[in-house]
Amino acid sequence: MKNILITGGTGYIGSHTCLALLKRGFNLTIIDSNINSSSLSISRVKKILKDEYYDEKIVFFKGDIRDKKFLDEIFLNSIKQNNRIQGVIHFAGLKAVSESLFQPLVYWENNVYGSICLFEIMGKYDCKNIVFSSSASIYKNNSLKPILETSEIKPCTPYGQTKVAIENILEGIFKTSSNSWRIANLRYFNPIGAHESGLIGENPLSTPNNLFPIVCRVADGSICELQIFGNDWPTNDGTPVRDYIHIMDLAEAHCAGLDFLFKNKPQFINLNVGTGIGTSVLELVNKFMEVNNCRIPYKYSQKRLGDLPFVVAENKLITSILEWRPKRNIEQMCRDGWQWQKNNPNGF
Ligand code: NAD
Ligand code: WQD
Repeated sequence: MKNILITGGTGYIGSHTCLALLKRGFNLTIIDSNINSSSLSISRVKKILKDEYYDEKIVFFKGDIRDKKFLDEIFLNSIKQNNRIQGVIHFAGLKAVSESLFQPLVYWENNVYGSICLFEIMGKYDCKNIVFSSSASIYKNNSLKPILETSEIKPCTPYGQTKVAIENILEGIFKTSSNSWRIANLRYFNPIGAHESGLIGENPLSTPNNLFPIVCRVADGSICELQIFGNDWPTNDGTPVRDYIHIMDLAEAHCAGLDFLFKNKPQFINLNVGTGIGTSVLELVNKFMEVNNCRIPYKYSQKRLGDLPFVVAENKLITSILEWRPKRNIEQMCRDGWQWQKNNPNGF
């Protein structure tokens, strides 16, 4: 079976994707600096799979993608062990959008320079298949219409700009290498929730900034009140609308993306990964309270700088090209996310 390198594989999306890939039989080489994660997520993934058979299918190396020597050794070893890395899913990166406004250089250096190191070593070892974690934050959507892959790209934060830069670098690599690479940029919308076991989930090491982990912490009492950023947006209930996607649906999109790349001719493709369904902040909060039978005290506060009223994916391209469609609804996202939080109030 193919060996896939997962950068950032102990993080939130990475750990869920590792689980989905192992179930499909892939061998995994995981690397992570653990700057925003714990490698305990790997033991939990193994616990979910409940089978010693999987022990041999995962190797983990703690390290940084900016360390080319480290990357080189990993690729070289995989060849020596007759388990050559044939594809990469590239999650490793810093992702706190607001932090990137204050520390732009840190984001450019980690995300963009780190990616350049990775792509260079991939090229050296003739590994030319990659799924890259891009983001809906690259779009500038001021309308109330779903976003297409061809919609305007105009990120308003350094974080989003690093994602565009990495996509552009990959496009340049594709065009200048006689079109020999297979590249899929998956542009995620708002992943939330956790695996249904409640054993793995989102584990931000610093104060969370995203809505769902904050809602979970208000539900367990560690944050006393949710602030909803504005109630006069041009939406049905005045709160902003997002396309929330269950983390396991997102994980499965990576498996489908890899399958697609391996089965098809070399290409460079951008795909939105969302459900196509919009949910407002207020709807999410109400659904969470209803499904989990709990209270989320909230108050309205000022709008957050840079927020948009409506960020929902047009997902026709991904559902027509990949053997994938989102299966889990907002109730399941709320239930699974809360189960993880309840069972693991302090993370791993
Ligand atoms: P995460 O922080 O849980 O995972 C990222 C992982 O990368 C972490 O484990 C971190 O320790 C590791 N990492 C960071 N810099 C590294 C480096 N230089 N070398 C090695 N490891 C490094 O975040 P996530 O939510 O799982 O996000 C994964 C990817 O998806 C990121 O690239 C993120 O930008 C992107 N993304 C996330 C979202 C989201 O809402 N969670 C949305 C769109 C895109
Ligand atoms: C969702 C909604 C807030 C917190 C960002 C990135 C995106 C992706 C996901 C990485 C918004 C509202 C939030 C709070 C609130 N990440 N909110 N009170 O901003 O849609 O997307 O994270 O790539 O690229 O841009 O996600 O979860 O921060 O916010 O009212 O305390 O919740 O205004 O409408 P966002 P979010």
